[in-house]
Amino acid sequence: MGIEGFEDAGVYRIADGVAIVQTVDFFTPIVNDPYSFGQIAATNSLSDIYAMGATPKTALNIVCFSVKKYGAQVLKEILRGGIDKIREAGVSLLGGHSVEDEEIKYGLCVTGVVHPDRILRNYGAWEGDWLILTKPLGTGILNTGIKADMLGEKSIANLIKIMATLNRDAAHVMLSVRVHAATDVTGFGLIGHLKEMIKDDIGVELFSKDIPYFEEAPELASFGILPGGLYRNRDFYSEHVTGKKEGFIFDVIFDPQTSGGLLFALHQDDLSQFDKNAHSAGVEYWVIGRFVKEPKGKIILR
Ligand code: CO
Ligand code: CO
Repeated sequence: MGIEGFEDAGVYRIADGVAIVQTVDFFTPIVNDPYSFGQIAATNSLSDIYAMGATPKTALNIVCFSVKKYGAQVLKEILRGGIDKIREAGVSLLGGHSVEDEEIKYGLCVTGVVHPDRILRNYGAWEGDWLILTKPLGTGILNTGIKADMLGEKSIANLIKIMATLNRDAAHVMLSVRVHAATDVTGFGLIGHLKEMIKDDIGVELFSKDIPYFEEAPELASFGILPGGLYRNRDFYSEHVTGKKEGFIFDVIFDPQTSGGLLFALHQDDLSQFDKNAHSAGVEYWVIGRFVKEPKGKIILR
């Protein structure tokens, strides 16, 4: 695929009509409950395969853990969380590798398959395409809120539920219509991944009032509970943003996401068909913008 597109995963054609798609992702715990952490880490690792329009088939565990420090039960729970998500995705777990490490890390190496003509790249949107997002933003802000002990049990449970939701159904609906570019929102935040989508070829208008976020996020942000990555993303990408650069929206669009939703450019004539298919699959989504011819390479906040 080349490196110019910063694609979500690597692709290798193994025969006419079939390519394998490979990705690896692992990270340190973001929630206290080891089972939930395992679920989230596995969901996050699988996401890049879905973002390429591919179907995940096999996975390998990657584990950094100290049994002496944390005990075997914690490791068992992390792996159980991962396996439950791997199963739900219809993926076969083939094995894995572990390293003795004082700092816990867990994730997966995932292989998927796709027809070479059906690969979804992360750029190539057309003028007039709708910009669709399938999960709310703010996981970085809420995860920072957990560390500051400022998030209630109910909010944590809802956050975990969304981070542990596979992008499988969303990808299925996405593939039922004409899509010109797709990715998933992770560490670079909405704007970082959106900039990769437009490059300097096309522009995009963002509908500020339609951008979804966790309801706890604005209050946390008002207390300055923002992850370091948000500031770094804003420093790096804000030069590409024009329009109303203020308020909470100008925070959350830079928030680094863990196991974020799919972000894609939908053919302008396919929105009603997409809506029908999303409803019958029970997939939530938001139309958060529209691609425009000019100004090229810019994201306009409306
Ligand atoms: Co990705
Ligand atoms: Co990744």
